[in-house]
Amino acid sequence: MSFRTIEWRDDKVIMIDQTRLPSEEVYNEYTDFQGVAEAIRGMIIRGAPAIGVAAAMGVALGARGIIADTHESFFKQLDNVCDVLARTRPTAVNLFWAIQRMRRVAEANRDKDLHSIRAILKAEAISIEEEDLRICKTLGANGAALIKDGATILTHCNAGGLATAGYGTALGVIRAARDAGKKIRVFADETRPWLQGARLTSWELMKDGIPVTLISDNMAGFFMKKGEIDCVVVGADRIAANGDTANKIGTYSVAVLAKENRIPFYVAAPISTLDLTLKSGDEIPIEERTASEVTHIQGVSLAPEGVTVRNPAFDVTPARYVTAIITEKGVVRGDFEAGLKALVGQ
Ligand code: MRU
Repeated sequence: MSFRTIEWRDDKVIMIDQTRLPSEEVYNEYTDFQGVAEAIRGMIIRGAPAIGVAAAMGVALGARGIIADTHESFFKQLDNVCDVLARTRPTAVNLFWAIQRMRRVAEANRDKDLHSIRAILKAEAISIEEEDLRICKTLGANGAALIKDGATILTHCNAGGLATAGYGTALGVIRAARDAGKKIRVFADETRPWLQGARLTSWELMKDGIPVTLISDNMAGFFMKKGEIDCVVVGADRIAANGDTANKIGTYSVAVLAKENRIPFYVAAPISTLDLTLKSGDEIPIEERTASEVTHIQGVSLAPEGVTVRNPAFDVTPARYVTAIITEKGVVRGDFEAGLKALVGQ
């Protein structure tokens, strides 16, 4: 990749600032967990797997900053670090998955001295990042098999290298198809209100030399009906046990359009995005973000002052609209409940 989404370097966390793309490629440095929490909340880093990695690195930074004479005091403060990071964004389960993994590792090493526990947490955060990159590549290869040579693929939001440790989930499938020699083209929905498609997906695909056409969200049906889209591939923020999938707002509309036009609709996500504790998508918490994301674009107001606004950041696509869920452990179709359970059990 020609950019790095997030990395641990010299005991700092470095992130590309996604609020400033595509006009500026700026890397921010964080030395404390509060800064990382703010970066997640403010979407300097975003995308389910990427915020999982950021949270893990936030826990490791937090552990470094704790001043404690006793294990009891250290673990109490570590709990607070985890709680602050967990309160940043509610929908993507990868965030909670990563924090829980860090807590477990700390707990499993409680008998060691504090210096060693801090070092173990740092190593764990770095391995979560490295694993995510490997997972995206495996998942990508699994999904590429579903993409026909010459296909035009529609994607929504950004489920790319910027949303992961690198390579991407939905864009990982696209990259793997290209790397397998398939001639593919991508249509990117602009993804109002935050414009992840316009600002991030187009930027990252153009940088990688993958042909991309940017469309506004309300054009997807037009191109599907004309027969110009062969399949849809999107990422996910949380997948319930029955296959219902939370992803960026607007994904549900794309899925309904795809079904109406008999176009396969694929969800690409790592196992860490599955939340089998939830029976269906009705139980997935949906983040509501500030009104200004809808009323303004880059500081310019588009709407009358004082207008009532709703801004849910995600929606849930019922499993009946999903053709297949692509993971690093394999592709699930049909009976998602049984298929996902079997994958997790592997
Ligand atoms: O609000 P965001 O930008 O964090 O939302 C991101 C998405 O909805 C992505 O599609 C999803 O996290 C999958 S990322 C591989």
